[in-house]
Amino acid sequence: MAMSLVTIVILLTSTAAAAYDLSFLASGCDIRGTFVDDLTGLNPTVSYCLGRAFAKKLGPYKTILLGRDPRTHGEVLTKSFCSGFLDENSLATTPSSHVKITGLATTPSVFHSCLTGFVDGGVMITASHLPKDRNGLKIFTKDGPLSVKERDDLLKEAGRIMDDCDLDGTHIGEGIENVNFMSVYVSFLVDFVNERVGEKGLAGLKILVNSGGGSGYFLVDVLEQCGADVSSSINLSPNGSFPKGPPNPENKKMVKETIEACEREKNVDLAIMLDTDGDRVGFITPSSTGEYVPLNRNRFVAVMTAILANSRPEGEETAYVVTDSVTSTGLEKFVNGLPGMRMIRFKKGYMNVINEAKRLCKEEGKAAELAIETSGHSAFRANNWMDDGTYSAVVVVCELAKRGGRVNDMIAGLEEASFEEELRLQVLENETSDVYAKIEAAVRGDGRWMVDELNKEGVRLVLGGKWGSGWFMLRPSLHDPVVSMQVECDEGVAAKLVSEVRNVIFGAVGDNVSYGDLDAIE
Ligand SMILES: *[C@@H]1O[C@H](CO)[C@@H](O)[C@H](O)[C@H]1NC(C)=O
Ligand SMILES: *[C@@H]1O[C@H](CO)[C@@H](O)[C@H](O)[C@H]1NC(C)=O
Ligand SMILES: *[C@@H]1O[C@H](CO)[C@@H](O)[C@H](O)[C@H]1NC(C)=O
Repeated sequence: MAMSLVTIVILLTSTAAAAYDLSFLASGCDIRGTFVDDLTGLNPTVSYCLGRAFAKKLGPYKTILLGRDPRTHGEVLTKSFCSGFLDENSLATTPSSHVKITGLATTPSVFHSCLTGFVDGGVMITASHLPKDRNGLKIFTKDGPLSVKERDDLLKEAGRIMDDCDLDGTHIGEGIENVNFMSVYVSFLVDFVNERVGEKGLAGLKILVNSGGGSGYFLVDVLEQCGADVSSSINLSPNGSFPKGPPNPENKKMVKETIEACEREKNVDLAIMLDTDGDRVGFITPSSTGEYVPLNRNRFVAVMTAILANSRPEGEETAYVVTDSVTSTGLEKFVNGLPGMRMIRFKKGYMNVINEAKRLCKEEGKAAELAIETSGHSAFRANNWMDDGTYSAVVVVCELAKRGGRVNDMIAGLEEASFEEELRLQVLENETSDVYAKIEAAVRGDGRWMVDELNKEGVRLVLGGKWGSGWFMLRPSLHDPVVSMQVECDEGVAAKLVSEVRNVIFGAVGDNVSYGDLDAIE
């Protein structure tokens, strides 16, 4: 199937000059697009050309591992990438590269295969929590994910290859080996647990995993091998048509479903929610009054930081935790109150926080030990900066095994706003940046709220006076024509605050954005 699509597309477009512009597939630091059989999206031809471009980048005699999430088109994209990779090598004078395919996998496991030297390059075919018709590629070498520049260069090279792609040599079968790398990754996590908690393992703990039909289901093997009771887990069968929507631990439906499963089951010690490709996580935990409550967003950052603080020997130098831009002031107070810990609020985007943490280590000599986002991404320096929700999950489970009780006892001191929402303003015309710029200027200039000048993106306003404590923040979305408004304040003032901010925005851009989310606050 990959072959015929490749042929058709090339025939249709062979009159075009110069290189194809594939830059529209750049998204954050990844490659993403809608899976369609033409040049407006991500298709097997593009994947084939990316395979060739990646082979060129790596050079001869290299091996790669490919994994994918359960999306139905993952298989054809895998095959076409492999064909491209092997073709490029058979065109070179020194061939003999080969490809290992592991099938369903998580993004961190593919990264791990490069870090451990199992292969020279890793490719994960996934579009994470995006709808089922999207797909994408995350590409790794032993140095980590491709940088934005490397990714852009790869797209350019693939565009050049696409322009004069000779398919005669297309390679099928040879040089491809099926492997089961997930079992290697399971062993890695099992070893980690054994090292942290010793002989006793996770015996006596009842853990519910909700992998939502994504690739994260393998985590139950890890927990089970360590002695936990995982029998109450739900949605473990991978299903690329995502009957309940793509798994996403920030999604209210997934949170609600997981809480209900805990309530049915009763004595669950911790529930773990994973996203489609296993790099993000969220938790549900029993509270001190016995209800099941989410342990996500600011609470997630607080728990991970508290565990890190516990694991550091006394008298160690100050450790820094780099977070995304929408973390709360309560969280900052909590982290800075932990012995030897400091929080640095940076920007949205998991590669942004990871790169900032690496930079702090390298350029400022700071011990930046954790890069973490409220969305559930987190990467420990001690784990080679690997962004891994399953690793974070076992870190939390080990802490629970060691201390007993409830995980959220660790964050009892976290001050939380009674109103916490992310509201979205859809931009109704094309000039997103213009509209955003007008909104930001108006809010900054308003004078009723204090601008946080240390904030690294968008505009963050600190409340005070009649508004009580709290803050709100406006920023343009990284991926969509959307302006996001994060609000954390007292429940009692929320509706009035949102409506006054709405008036300021309306004065600046009128009907060029939709106000639905803001109007819904009462
Ligand atoms: C996946 O979900 C679809 C849609 O609900 C369903 O029809 C299909 O049977 C499921 N496939 C598997 C393998 O469970
Ligand atoms: C804005 O978008 C519409 C519909 O997508 C399009 O027809 C129009 O040309 C765009 N305008 C500009 C200025 O890009
Ligand atoms: C809304 O968009 C239109 C079209 O770009 C523009 O002419 C107009 O000035 C905008 N209105 C406001 C209030 O910004």
